[in-house]
Order: sequence, then structure tokens, then C-alpha cells
Amino acid sequence: MSKESIHIENIDGQLFEVNIIEEGNSKPASFTHYIHNHKNGVSKFYKRDAVEFVKEKLSKEYPANKITNKVAEEALQYLIFDSDKTLPFPAPIKPKFKFIDLFAGIGGFRLAFQNLQGKCVFTSEWDKYSKQTYRVNFGEIPFGDITKAKTKSYIPDDFDVLCAGFPCQAFSIAGRRGGFEDTRGTLFFDVAEIIKNKKPKAVFLENVKGLRNHDKGKTLKTILNVLREDLGYYIPEPKILNAKEFGVPQNRERIFIVGFRKDLGVTLKGRAIRFKSSLVPRCGLSTSITNAS
Ligand SMILES: C[S@@+](CC[C@H](N)C(=O)[O-])C[C@H]1O[C@@H](n2cnc3c(N)ncnc32)[C@H](O)[C@@H]1O
Repeated sequence: MSKESIHIENIDGQLFEVNIIEEGNSKPASFTHYIHNHKNGVSKFYKRDAVEFVKEKLSKEYPANKITNKVAEEALQYLIFDSDKTLPFPAPIKPKFKFIDLFAGIGGFRLAFQNLQGKCVFTSEWDKYSKQTYRVNFGEIPFGDITKAKTKSYIPDDFDVLCAGFPCQAFSIAGRRGGFEDTRGTLFFDVAEIIKNKKPKAVFLENVKGLRNHDKGKTLKTILNVLREDLGYYIPEPKILNAKEFGVPQNRERIFIVGFRKDLGVTLKGRAIRFKSSLVPRCGLSTSITNAS
């Protein structure tokens, strides 16, 4: 079947309106990740599923024709150039680093890292409505449950920063070392496993303030032990920051754990990590009142 007979140039945008957000179907996520990552070396992680997705869509639209991989691939390339260029929060044009966005929610981390000229190359979030919002904000549908090996198999190599605002869970480490294996069965274990396999240059983890004293401080101690001793990261003491100090109209305290791979030689000896509130665009009171009403 030739490209001409399906009029790739005239594909109706609606045909590729990706509204499939069902858990377990990774093809829509792969398709959107492919479209947004075609020139930064990671598209190979998404291509096979993306072609399959386009093939399925075209076969449904043109039932009388046999859609070959070649036709689907051509349509995919066409769609890259036809993809939505009017996103509310587009990726930087000349990114300076790559990051992944785990437990992505609606993309708070992504927004901040994009503002710092980062390019998001993988995202995971399992909540249906968060996925929908994320897609509208950034054009990408997050992959689903990060505890699944299949989801992890899409994570590309060679990204610089791993971001994760993972839910806090206790570890039963009584009488144990509090190392990597002892965290098995928790979401932190999945984060640690990805760090172990991909070895990003830096990690940026966030949690509720209560993590500091959770299980008499043992949970945080285990997390720091795994990151420092088992995974080889330089981790300064975590900091608790309040959103209201950074121009956000919320009294919301969170703990931030930042780390750098030890071989990079990053240390903060004698220096504190300073979070520049000027990096965050302040929203005016009127904006917050309008949005809240
Ligand atoms: C504290 S929120 C993170 C919010 C995010 N930083 C933001 O800016 O919106 C944690 C998120 O993890 C998601 N989550 C929890 N378990 C998950 C899993 N196994 N796989 C993928 N996402 C998960 C939840 O749905 C929730 O949106």
C-alpha cells in the first residue's frame, strides 16, 4: 500500500488524538514520547511501540488496506512535524541536560526542570486524571505503574538527573543493615533500582516533611544509607523547604534529598546548597485568588 493512497499529508489531527489513558497500554505513552524525543538520541526506546500505535490507528481508519510498517513509519515521521506546537509548557529549544520524571503527578518537577533548560526524556504516573492533565500541559502521556518491569524497560540510558517525589513507606529493617535489599517491596526500592541500573549524574528526591521522623527517623536513615553506601552518591543533609518562600501561595513543607554520583567529585564542603527563589516566577496574589475561586 502506498503512502499516497492513505494521504499521509492529509491525516486529520483527530485521527491521532491520543485519548487512550488506560493502565497497561504503553503504546500511547510510547507514541507521545517518540514524537517529543525524535532528535535527542532516546527515540529508539519508543519507536517500536510508536509504529505499532500508528499502524493500529491507520488500520482502523483504512480497514480496506493492509498497513505496512513502512507506511506506519512514514506517517509517524510526518506526525512529528505536524505535532502540536502550541503546548502550554513546551520543552526548551536547546536543552542543556536530560532528566526523567517519576511519580510525575501533573508535572511540577518537570516545569521547574524545563525552566532550568532540562529536557524530560521519560515520565511515569499511574493516576488517570494526572496523566490527562500532564498530557495537556506537556504533550506526553506518562507511562504507568513504575513498579512493573515493563514500565522500567522504556526508561532510556544516559539521562542526567532522576527526579522522584515517591510516596513515603516504612521499611521493616529490624535487625538488618538497612541497605538496598531491605527496602524491597517499597516504591523507594524501585527508585533505587532505577538509579542502580541507569546511574544518572544526579538525583532529586522529594517527600513529605514527616519523612524526617517517620519510624523514629529509621526510614530516612535507610534511604540515605542506600543512596550513599549502596549506590555511591554524595548526599548532603536533606533540606526542608516551604513553598511559600518560593513565590507559591501555599504553606507546604517538603523534604528534598539531592545527590551527585560520587565519581563526579561534587562536594559542598563549607558551602550550603542554596535554592534561589528568584528561579521561580512569583505569582501575584490576584492570580492565586482567581485560580482558587
Ligand atoms: C506526591 S505525588 C507527586 C507530585 C508531583 N511531584 C507533581 O509535581 O505533581 C506522587 C504521585 O505518585 C503517583 N504514584 C504512586 N504510585 C505510583 C506507581 N506505582 N507508579 C506510578 N505513579 C505512582 C501518584 O499517583 C501521585 O500522583
